[in-house]
Amino acid sequence: MIVLGIETSCDETAAAVVDQGGVRSNVIHSQQVHRPFGGVVPELASRDHLSKIVQVTRQALEEAKAGLGDIGAVAAASSPGLAGALLVGNSFGQGLALSIGKPFVPVNHIEAHVHGAMLGDGSLKPPFVALVVSGGHTSLFHVGNDLSLSLMGRTLDDAAGEAFDKVAKMLGLGYPGGPEIEKQAALAEPPWPGFPVASLGPESLDFSFSGLKTAVLNRLLAKGRDYLEKLEAGEIRRVSRGFQEAVIEAVSAKALKALEVSGCRALAVAGGVSVNRALRAELTTLAGRHGFKASFPPPGLCTDNAAMVAWNARALLLLDRARMPEPAVSARSAWPRYQRP
Ligand code: KG4
Ligand code: ZN
Repeated sequence: MIVLGIETSCDETAAAVVDQGGVRSNVIHSQQVHRPFGGVVPELASRDHLSKIVQVTRQALEEAKAGLGDIGAVAAASSPGLAGALLVGNSFGQGLALSIGKPFVPVNHIEAHVHGAMLGDGSLKPPFVALVVSGGHTSLFHVGNDLSLSLMGRTLDDAAGEAFDKVAKMLGLGYPGGPEIEKQAALAEPPWPGFPVASLGPESLDFSFSGLKTAVLNRLLAKGRDYLEKLEAGEIRRVSRGFQEAVIEAVSAKALKALEVSGCRALAVAGGVSVNRALRAELTTLAGRHGFKASFPPPGLCTDNAAMVAWNARALLLLDRARMPEPAVSARSAWPRYQRP
């Protein structure tokens, strides 16, 4: 079946077409309207999605050489994310599905990241552990043989990508912060600072990045409130490197523990932060040392995209688990299943 996927949960307007062979097209428009603000402005995100969604969807169909008559189902990420932004993709997707008489499948954005990992690596088969490290989420899942996800751990405060973005802002670097910090960290000359890594106890598979963020800020503020004016290039690079190493250590340690607890021999890493080359290198080294397989999607399937949404919907349809709303689904800023009681 050919599935058209739509993604508008944050600041990417994306549309993609997949079939049984995988990706036929994967069009991503990354919004530039937020750059001056150093973070995503929800109202601007919704408006930009509205103005781009038709054009991006047209392009996805054209690149896939598919007409609307070829589409068997339309899917959109419906939660979690920015409510106004999600509503654009969901309303558009439902309207389109209705107009062509095909089912509309709402998809969980975080689960879609995990399906993106399977789409990127055909040899990745459940059971495995999935580490989703993105701007909005940092979570560990056990992915069962029936493709169901069980939450093993999650961040108690900031997401890893959010910490990258906030530290980049503290250092006067641009948005999104992850790629900027990675660039600076690669240029650092030792010694760089060792920042604290929250363990939260020997059994915990949860994450915390707020202490790390504060430690970076305290180091900078030691130079005075006007530290940004005094910050030299070498210090930006060293702080970037120390911060990046602390994040990598935190997520690697928890991922290793999750593999141990679950008995799984494969780890899939997804979400925007999984593009980070230093993180990939460390997890690849650990995979060699501890005898597990580490799988990383290609960058276009790591950061927000619609191919993962379409692939997730396709799997749900094949498993007869697609939850098709009648007559309308509403967007939710949080997904209750992954909230702790
Ligand atoms: O998955 P994603 O595109 O959107 C969400 O679902 O949140 O992830 C975006 C996040 C941003 O916080 C961005 O700074 C981070 O991924 N990111 C990176 C890198 N590229 C993107 N973090 C570290 N290193 C990178 N190279
Ligand atoms: Zn995402």
